[in-house]
Amino acid sequence: MSIVISPLTKDDFPTLIEWAEDEKILLQWAGPYFKYPLTNAQLAEYLAPTRHKDPVRFAFRALDEADLMVGMAELNVVDRTNETATLCRIFVDKNRRGRGLADSIIKQVISYGFDILKLNRIDLKVFTYNSTAIKCYEKLGFVREGMMRKVCKFNNEYWDCYVYSMLGNEWEARRK
Ligand SMILES: CC(C)(COP(=O)(O)OP(=O)(O)OC[C@H]1O[C@@H](n2cnc3c(N)ncnc32)[C@H](O)[C@@H]1OP(=O)(O)O)[C@@H](O)C(=O)NCCC(=O)NCCS
Repeated sequence: MSIVISPLTKDDFPTLIEWAEDEKILLQWAGPYFKYPLTNAQLAEYLAPTRHKDPVRFAFRALDEADLMVGMAELNVVDRTNETATLCRIFVDKNRRGRGLADSIIKQVISYGFDILKLNRIDLKVFTYNSTAIKCYEKLGFVREGMMRKVCKFNNEYWDCYVYSMLGNEWEARRK
């Protein structure tokens, strides 16, 4: 299955809204940035910075061979001085999971970060209970830096998150 990433557009909003089917999945996927239920207005505001000059946000959709949207991912807080960015809002359509799509999407997005944007470091945060996502990141070579305790509150439960990163030279070494 060949998956190709391209910039997210407003035509993709209905799919994103469908994917954000409950409050927990929206929080797990996108952090507290969006409020449930996800709306076109929130997404339009989210997408606006991607059109700025030297954007700090790059939002990607992933299309399959039939041009169906199967996932998304983002590079955010792109800092050209320190050559850093944060990988976030990774999602794969729940009917298409477990087939390596996240792996393919993330590889393309980090390649964009290191090769096109010339970054030196890409980090990410993941809730500690999200073992599927953690498995993906570790398989790709992200290195766990530590844990942030009780960063998020959901239904009277506090969630911890791990911080992971990958450096440009680690990406280069993995590619060989
Ligand atoms: C996390 C997510 C993007 C992974 O997508 P995916 O396309 O299914 O991922 P992949 O198929 O590339 O890899 C999944 C890996 O996790 C493994 N896995 C699946 N369920 C697992 C579980 N409960 N515990 C541990 N590993 C698990 C799979 O076996 C696979 O590993 P393998 O390639 O060695 O077999 C997807 O589950 C998703 O969209 N989740 C909801 C949103 C989310 O949590 N995003 C991450 C925010 S940080």
